[in-house]
Amino acid sequence: MKKSVVVLAAFICMIIVSFAFTKADPPRYKNLKILPKDITKEQMDSVMHHFAGALGQKCSYCHMYNQEQKSMDFASDENKHKGAARGMLKMMYKLNRKFFEVKNSKDLNAKLEITCYTCHHGAEHPATKGLMTPMPPQGQPGPPPPSTNQ
Ligand code: HEC
Ligand code: HEC
Repeated sequence: MKKSVVVLAAFICMIIVSFAFTKADPPRYKNLKILPKDITKEQMDSVMHHFAGALGQKCSYCHMYNQEQKSMDFASDENKHKGAARGMLKMMYKLNRKFFEVKNSKDLNAKLEITCYTCHHGAEHPATKGLMTPMPPQGQPGPPPPSTNQ
């Protein structure tokens, strides 16, 4: 009788332990609203370096430094540039899907036509010229560069 109780207890322990090990990992990132929740660390690093490089900025352009923790708080939404970047990301997906027929534009491995770099080219503010700004006529060279010897 006693022996069977011990066996039963051991069995229950085994079940509890195996549950503890099979329980799904907690999500790696805490505050993703646009990017896929199952994004890997390598993919996240790649996306974030694209953002930074495309805008010619550092991580701190969009993310906050936490004084108490003495480290970057990447999950925080305090920095308004982070919110702007989320809007841009949505726009980027939509442009690819609606205007360039990239149906799987949210897929991290999709072959995108438009990325942050397409417009930003390493600058915070993309170079924009109004439709009414004079441009060189078609087939003709643009205005000569400003002279340097005057
Ligand atoms: C142009 C703005 C921008 C720049 C620059 C940027 N990020 Fe981000 N980052 C974001 C946005 C937006 C999100 C949230 C994406 C979402 O909601 O799906 C994010 C999310 C993250 C997260 C996930 C945080 C969490 O737990 O939810 C990490 C980690 C991160 N960024 C790291 C970095 C690193 C490291 C750099 C520098 C190499 C960097 N970021 C540069 C905009 C930026
Ligand atoms: C279709 C062109 C286009 C694409 C694609 C694009 N952007 Fe932008 N972005 C703009 C324009 C235009 C502005 C506003 C310019 C200005 O403020 O001078 C802007 C502004 C921003 C700003 C705000 C700057 C500020 O002054 O607050 C951030 C941040 C930003 N973009 C991030 C991104 C990120 C990240 C991506 C890729 C996910 C992206 N953009 C893709 C055109 C684009």
